[in-house]
Amino acid sequence: MENILKTVLTLSTITGLLSLLLSIANKTIANYGTKKLIINQSKEYLVEGGDSLLSTLNEQNIFIPSACGGKGSCGYCKVKVISGGGPFLSTEKGYVTEKERVDGIRLSCQLKVKQDIEIEIPEELFNVKQLTYLVTGIEDLTSKIKKINFKLPENESLDYKPGQYVQILTPPYEGNEEVYRAYSIATPPSSKHAIELFIGYVPDGICTTYIHKYLKVGDKLSIVGPFGDFYYREGDKDMLMFAIGTGIAPIMSILRYMNENNIERKVTFFFGARTRKDLFLIDELHSLEKTMYEFKLVLVLSRPTPECNWNGEIGRVTDLVSKYILDANNKEAYLCGNPPMIDDLIPLLKDKGFIDENILYDKFE
Ligand SMILES: Cc1cc2nc3c(=O)[nH]c(=O)nc-3n(C[C@H](O)[C@H](O)[C@H](O)COP(=O)(O)OP(=O)(O)OC[C@H]3O[C@@H](n4cnc5c(N)ncnc54)[C@H](O)[C@@H]3O)c2cc1C
Ligand code: FES
Repeated sequence: MENILKTVLTLSTITGLLSLLLSIANKTIANYGTKKLIINQSKEYLVEGGDSLLSTLNEQNIFIPSACGGKGSCGYCKVKVISGGGPFLSTEKGYVTEKERVDGIRLSCQLKVKQDIEIEIPEELFNVKQLTYLVTGIEDLTSKIKKINFKLPENESLDYKPGQYVQILTPPYEGNEEVYRAYSIATPPSSKHAIELFIGYVPDGICTTYIHKYLKVGDKLSIVGPFGDFYYREGDKDMLMFAIGTGIAPIMSILRYMNENNIERKVTFFFGARTRKDLFLIDELHSLEKTMYEFKLVLVLSRPTPECNWNGEIGRVTDLVSKYILDANNKEAYLCGNPPMIDDLIPLLKDKGFIDENILYDKFE
């Protein structure tokens, strides 16, 4: 009995010592101290080392796009590292091409700031703000998609381009940590104090479950933006737009902007859904056909039921390319929706002669 007690005592002393050593090691090894962060050769910050570059920048109120919230699964948080980035990590491989890697492009959510670091980012990211929005309206657009209206305090405003997106910071709930998720702004840029988002429900999705189950009018949410290079391009090319589901959000921002500014361009919008019940904003789209310079709406249902009483197009938006698009002459395409839809559309448009430069898209992944 005495021997057993001695053994237990020795073992617990060793365990205690080991955990003490581990905690000392953690504190000393992981304590990188203060480091210098230089951005665009012109701005210098003193930052605490040890955190990811993405979080370190956020601490300085500099927000890099991060649609997956730093999980290393969206590839949106790329920055150019001039020096001090440390070795390229295996977690970056799937998102950074060989050419980008040679140019110093890194995933800012993956690399840790362990030494002085110099980076380059687009100047417009200094205009990205994190603001607290008040929820002023929640409306069902379909059984799975909600329109959420947000308002800023009087003294705050958001400048964005038609088609850009913001990131919602979902607060912690039901054991989930806070997460950032990307949502396209559906309002036109003239609406600086209030924005509208269309948010589809994803089963077990952290942000969308919060929005669909818990968010109430009167709540406040932290939103950061604007981000994105999917936005209206000035010019005189005819515009072909393709969207399914919530992919209509940035398209609405662009259409509303063009309508407000009487822009004289020819636009055709192909909008797809499963059944008639999954279509939304149809009245507004039909009224745009009357007020815009030359706007044509083509609706397509993939699974119309007899109740749909449907005599319009049947199939997927991809099926409409061969029927409606003759060639790529003086045309540009705006595509928005889930990744398979975009991946299927791009080769079809290329077959018609579209070059990469004239195909703009936002994949909602
Ligand atoms: C630039 C950009 C703009 C976007 N704009 C919009 C928008 O306007 N409206 C909108 O509703 N969404 C939009 N999204 C998608 C959005 O950012 C989220 O990915 C989506 O809402 C799911 O978030 P979540 O936290 O609920 O799910 P998560 O917790 O991230 O995911 C939970 C699980 O569901 C899977 N999953 C995630 N998304 C989908 C999906 N769409 N379909 C099926 N499975 C999925 C994941 O793989 C995971 O297994 C956009 C994405 C990007 C990158
Ligand atoms: S934030 Fe998504 S990969 Fe870095």
